[in-house]
Amino acid sequence: MDVPRSERLSKLPPYLFADLRRKMAAARERGVKVIRIDIGDPDQPTPDPVIDELCRAVADTADPDRHRYGCDRPVAELPRAIRDFYSRRFGVTIGEDQLVTTMGSKDAIVKFCLGVMNPGDIGIAPVPGYPTYNIAHVFAGGETLAAPLLAENDFLVDFDAIPADVRKRAKILWLNYPNNPTAAVAPMEFFERAVEFGRQNNILIAHDSAYSENTYDGYQAPSILQVDGADEVAVEFFSLSKAFNMTGWRVGFVVGNASAVAALNAVKENIDNGSLRAIQMAATKALDSAEQFLPAINAVYQRRRDLVVDTLNSHGFNVAKPKATIYIWAPVPDKYHGDSGAFVAELLDKTGVMVTPGRGYGEAGEGFFRISLSYPDEVLAEALSRIAQMRV
Ligand SMILES: Cc1ncc(COP(=O)(O)O)c(C=O)c1O
Repeated sequence: MDVPRSERLSKLPPYLFADLRRKMAAARERGVKVIRIDIGDPDQPTPDPVIDELCRAVADTADPDRHRYGCDRPVAELPRAIRDFYSRRFGVTIGEDQLVTTMGSKDAIVKFCLGVMNPGDIGIAPVPGYPTYNIAHVFAGGETLAAPLLAENDFLVDFDAIPADVRKRAKILWLNYPNNPTAAVAPMEFFERAVEFGRQNNILIAHDSAYSENTYDGYQAPSILQVDGADEVAVEFFSLSKAFNMTGWRVGFVVGNASAVAALNAVKENIDNGSLRAIQMAATKALDSAEQFLPAINAVYQRRRDLVVDTLNSHGFNVAKPKATIYIWAPVPDKYHGDSGAFVAELLDKTGVMVTPGRGYGEAGEGFFRISLSYPDEVLAEALSRIAQMRV
């Protein structure tokens, strides 16, 4: 039986990286040693004390609930640790009804849209941007309108450029700073403006802060919830994935507007049964010890950032050093006339190095390519020496 796919799936944009995957396979067949520096998935290990806590909790025969549904027997310490973390890190108080733990942000973004959007609703998403915002809108029966992130606006959403008819119809606006893929950061005034925009237009502001803890040179990324009254219109998605090298663990949380949090919780109650208690305990350990773990993790990314940017610039590229995220967003060399697909394909073909074309994050990402810092120094160094052969 050939099962036809749902209309929902057919509405998703084509997978832009499929062609590059084919090209990678062809290069390997030709005997080229392909080096990938394109995916954002931390190579550094999860901190030992977090792993120890998971092992302890999962082996704890004194806890009769250790193997049972995490939603019915939640670890009370985790919401406590989340509140403490937000209070220490941002000076923000999270109310009892303003918090829900998640199985990571990707999952939560989709469930959130199922909880707050109706068919025909509009969501505004940054482009270039993380594709899941649009995917979530489509799964909820809605549509996406793009808010272009332009270099001349420091890759910040230009609220004034969002047309009046879009403001009227939009239910939700996604923001993501520090930003994937542009590595841009947003000042506090930007979040103040965002909250005002949400209030004026009755639009829910959903801030995805997946990279808020990956910061360098002493920079600290703000939370949108630091804005007075932000919880009237905003929620923030936090993930332990990139901060604590825990992508595979699937754990995060959403905080902010109580009714939006309740909508997400209602979807989760109907779809998932929460995380294993041992994962909740290990996440508690990570958040409670954030100040101990984060500097060492970020020192490695900062070193790699300097290696990548300095080397690229010494070979004729023109790349700024980002203050945050695990990405370098670089303009493609002039001779490709802004065609990121052509540059990436030729780079792969000639050198075996795989970076991500900016176009993969939407039309407004054209002209750039993305390198991920989540690879060992020697892999990055080898990739850079091959890139240098391209003689831009
Ligand atoms: C902007 C952004 N948001 C969310 C996520 C998903 O993170 P999680 O592992 O929590 O699902 C990613 C992962 O790459 C991301 O780049």
